[in-house]
Amino acid sequence: MEALGIDIGGSGIKGAPVDVTTGELTRERLRLATPAPSRPKAVAEVVAEIAGHFDWTGPVGVTFPGVVIDGVARSAANVDRSWIGVDARETFSVATGLPVVVLNDADAAGLAEVAAGSARGQRGVVLMLTFGTGIGSALFVDGLLVPNTELGHLEIRGKEAERRASDRARDEGGLSWGKWAGRVEEYLRHVEALFSPSLIVIGGGVSKKADRFLPMVKVRTRLVPATLRNEAGIVGAAMAAAL
Ligand code: BGC
Repeated sequence: MEALGIDIGGSGIKGAPVDVTTGELTRERLRLATPAPSRPKAVAEVVAEIAGHFDWTGPVGVTFPGVVIDGVARSAANVDRSWIGVDARETFSVATGLPVVVLNDADAAGLAEVAAGSARGQRGVVLMLTFGTGIGSALFVDGLLVPNTELGHLEIRGKEAERRASDRARDEGGLSWGKWAGRVEEYLRHVEALFSPSLIVIGGGVSKKADRFLPMVKVRTRLVPATLRNEAGIVGAAMAAAL
């Protein structure tokens, strides 16, 4: 079975049809710029454009970079604040004319990694952390997702963790890989002390360059880069839509 997965990020909105049993994209993905400001109507137009590009008529899964409860956006740290309280599922369904499921971006990426990526078959507590504009988190217990954990907002040294250790913080702060790896390590130590996971999957755009920083990050827990790389959000959104 196929579903269309669409991943809304801080700079780009990416989508592709996905074979939800294998987790593979069945067509080349389309990436369009995230509108600025990223208000609901403007974002919904881009989502509809992606569905139109693929002549899509089936189920659609869309990720959102904030808390999503029953399709409604409840936070908006890295998108326009006017999203808060908006029924994202309804907004995207109306824009595309299709059935839509909406979930948190990191939760979607985690679902994909657990089903078809580097956490496949892993029992116990698994944590997926995505390092991008913010830090996203997805917590699994024996493969079951605990949604909306929002661990990027934990406080480290009096600051939100994502302000110190996201990929954006590395970029904007002009941090060397070594310096940034130190911040990531400090963050991961905090998280592992709270959850004692068996495995931590490192995702987000920066996971493509895992060899530049992961060897420098020393923690107790086994750390692996996401195997679906930056496409995990698309794949997980499609999988959620096909449930
Ligand atoms: C948001 C999360 C999101 C993460 C990654 C955070 O700022 O609060 O909901 O998963 O960024 O986009």
